[in-house]
Amino acid sequence: MSRTRLGIDIGGSGVKYALVDTDLGELVTKRTRIKTPDPATPQAVTEVVAEIVDSVETDGSVGIGFPAVVWEGDVFSANNIDEGWIGRNARDDFANATGAEIVLINDADAAGIAEASFGAAKGVVGLTLVITFGTGIGSGAMFDGKLVPNLELGMLELEGHYPAELFFSAKVRKRENLSWGVWGGRVNRFLSHVNAVFNPRLMVFGGGVTKYWDQFSSHLDDKLPVVPASMGNNAGLIGAAVAAARAS
Ligand code: BGC
Repeated sequence: MSRTRLGIDIGGSGVKYALVDTDLGELVTKRTRIKTPDPATPQAVTEVVAEIVDSVETDGSVGIGFPAVVWEGDVFSANNIDEGWIGRNARDDFANATGAEIVLINDADAAGIAEASFGAAKGVVGLTLVITFGTGIGSGAMFDGKLVPNLELGMLELEGHYPAELFFSAKVRKRENLSWGVWGGRVNRFLSHVNAVFNPRLMVFGGGVTKYWDQFSSHLDDKLPVVPASMGNNAGLIGAAVAAARAS
């Protein structure tokens, strides 16, 4: 049976999707990116998802990474999406609009699954934290390769900033026009704090900004167990597709 699944990664600024070979963790079609509707209301996002599923030839379940705390489809937070999502069951919304079976997980959890299955965290025993820097800060905790869902490191309070993602995310670097050095220093302090609290075996730095790793990684403490993500910006949609394949 084909283990190809449609993976959709709903982020704070873009929605990315592709068909994924979930055994290999590779894209079968090229990745497409469209802008996340603003405001990202339930109706607007659901319409986008329905259009995507309609446009892709697939008959299996669909995996969706969603930028919020989600449990069995229920949405519990809305830092980067419209507050109207809270209390809704996003999985049912997407299933009703598409007619497809939907597997819905947090977007950074999806990146965690991808990096632990095929990428920089493959085979790591113990705790790996995949931390994505984007519009917010997402985190996927993997223990012995198994997901511990809904860890929200962006919600820490650090240096008087709560939630910390409002000061340390990649979006803030752009908004405040920070040099790579200044932002790299912030990332270093954030990761050092996380490292001191969780003592993970490995931290994987992810998110679109990873492609500029060489610009800021010299500002990270050598002793931090951190490596750049190896699946790039595809991690979220690949992990979502893998979650869908494993669920059905
Ligand atoms: C949300 C997380 C999400 C992250 C990345 C944060 O604002 O609270 O759930 O994983 O952004 O999208």
